[in-house]
Parts: sequence; structure tokens; C-alpha cells
Amino acid sequence: MSSVPDRLVPLSDGNSMPILGLGTYAMGPFVKGETVEAVKAAIEIGYRHFDGALVYGNEDEVGEGIRAKIADGTVKREDIFYTGKVWMTYLSPSLVRKALEKTLKTLQLDYVDLFIIHWPMGLKPREKLWIPKDASEKIVIEDVDFCESWLVMESCKDAGLVRSIGVSNFNHKQLETILKMPNLKYKPVCNQVECHPYLNQDKLLKYCQCNNIVLVGYSPLGTNSPNNVSRKSPILLNDPVLKKIGEKHRKTTAQVVLRYQVQRGVAVIPKSFNPGRMKQNREIFDFQLSDEEMEVINGLNKNIRYIDLKMLTDHPKYPFRDEY
Ligand code: A2P
Repeated sequence: MSSVPDRLVPLSDGNSMPILGLGTYAMGPFVKGETVEAVKAAIEIGYRHFDGALVYGNEDEVGEGIRAKIADGTVKREDIFYTGKVWMTYLSPSLVRKALEKTLKTLQLDYVDLFIIHWPMGLKPREKLWIPKDASEKIVIEDVDFCESWLVMESCKDAGLVRSIGVSNFNHKQLETILKMPNLKYKPVCNQVECHPYLNQDKLLKYCQCNNIVLVGYSPLGTNSPNNVSRKSPILLNDPVLKKIGEKHRKTTAQVVLRYQVQRGVAVIPKSFNPGRMKQNREIFDFQLSDEEMEVINGLNKNIRYIDLKMLTDHPKYPFRDEY
């Protein structure tokens, strides 16, 4: 097991989050048991922060992996930081708590450390959660007032079902809408958004830092979504500039892009179910990028959004129309 404890980021509500977590979103279909084994291996390697969601379809296995490592004495529940998410079809205020209860039941845990609104956009409840990739099934937009949903998030925190609450995929105006709520009790501790050198989120990061909101970067390795291939988007991990910086530090490109984020105060949740790569992705605390290298990496920004949910661009709360 790693002897290096993960650096903790303080959250505005007094809790803290390990700056590096394991993303658990994997393209299905899943091999049964694969996620359980990955989570168990990750805990052995030293991961304590897990990012999951009901909609990912493997939250039950994430819970099983965590519980197995608690049962065998490797970790205690309080050592683990688990993030769950309210999916779009559960965004209406009457369903938010149900979403959390479903996640707790699926995980078989008593509480989650962080529960976040997955997207600012609501959809009419439907049996299948995931949005179909083509137009074969109709999805119905529901224009939910997410401030009302936020009040329910607050009550879930007060009920002890969740330690911290936050949001994901909110632009700065949507964050501001929450921050300006007259009856706000707890502000979002984080905004989880896509973030990597090709989409460095510089402005949103500054906005979040000014408001004591942690920016959690998803797809920090540029993801391996088939979208990238079909759209011929440049592949982040093939970037020659990043590769060269890595060679100088005897680190891989993946380690350089993860180090870049933690060095600028962004929490990261790279996904890997491969123990070798999981281990590699944690070996980022034993080197430092120079100010000049940080600048060079900042200069690679191309505003390439790999996860853009193009099928929802007509949604009134679609977050990516604004610059940030
Ligand atoms: P795998 O699970 O086989 O390791 P992101 O977190 O940006 O969504 O990227 C996840 C993708 O990157 C997964 O396909 C994962 O594959 C792959 N990946 C994870 N860690 C590394 C690494 N260190 N080097 C190269 N690819 C990686």
C-alpha cells in the first residue's frame, strides 16, 4: 500500500476531500465484477476518494468493493470519500432525496461524503436513466428550478445522509444563481466539470477559487470516449509538448496532466480500472512543474470539450452556451 497519504483539499463546509480520486465511469457493457475488483485494487494502491453515480450503472459494484475493503480491515468507512450524483431525471425537488436514497441503497452505505447535482438540466422521469445516443427514444426536457432542488440537497445534509453537497457542469452564471439565493444555507462545496489542458477552464477556476468552491476536474486525461475518435478531436495524451515535459521529469504524459491540475488547485478523478495505470496516476506528488512549464501547458488550451451533451443543446439550462 502507498505510504504517501493523499493531499486533502479543504471544503467550505469544514470537511475535506482527497485531491486525487478514482473515476468509476466506464463505458458499458460491464464485465460482471470488474468494478468490484478495480475498487478493491484501488484501495490497496492507496486511493481513498471514489467518484461514482447511479447513472454509471456500476454504483452497486463500487459499493461492494468499498465494503469488502472495510470488512477485511484495510480501511474504515471514515477513510473513504465517496461522491454520488443526482441524475437529470431526479432533479425535480420531489425526487432529489429519492435519488440519494437510491444511491445509498445501491451502495449499501449509510451516507455519502459528497452528493452533487450531476447537470443543471432536468429531464422528465423515465425508466431508463441514460440519454439514448441516437434519436430512437424521446427524451422530454423538464425545466426544473435547480434552486428549489438545492434546498432539498441542504435538507439531505441536515438529515445526515450526506456530509457535503455540490454541483457539476454548472457554468458561472448558474453557480451565481445558487450563491445569490436569499435563503441559501450551504453553498456548493464544489463544481465538478470537464478539465484538462485542452479545456483548462481558467476563467471558471478563478471564479470558483474567488468563491471558495473546489473545482473537481473530470476526464482529466482527455477521456477515451468514442466521440473523440468520430469527431477526430486531437488526443490529449498524444500531445508532443506534454510528452516532452514528461520526458524531462521522467514521468508519463498522464502524470504531467494530473500534476498540472493538482498544482493549480484542481482536484482530479482519472478513471482507470487497470492497477498499473491506477498506481501510475497517483505518482504525481514527487515532482514539481516549473512556473514556465505551467505556462506552457496553459498555452495548450483549445477549448475542446469532449463531453458536450450536444443532444441537449436546446435545453433552457444547457450550461455550455456561455463562455464559462
Ligand atoms: P484504463 O481504464 O484501461 O486504464 P479520463 O479519466 O480522462 O476519462 O480517461 C480515462 C481513460 O484513460 C480510460 O480509458 C483509461 O483506461 C485511460 N487511462 C487511465 N490512466 C491512464 C494512463 N496513466 N495512461 C494512459 N491511459 C490511461
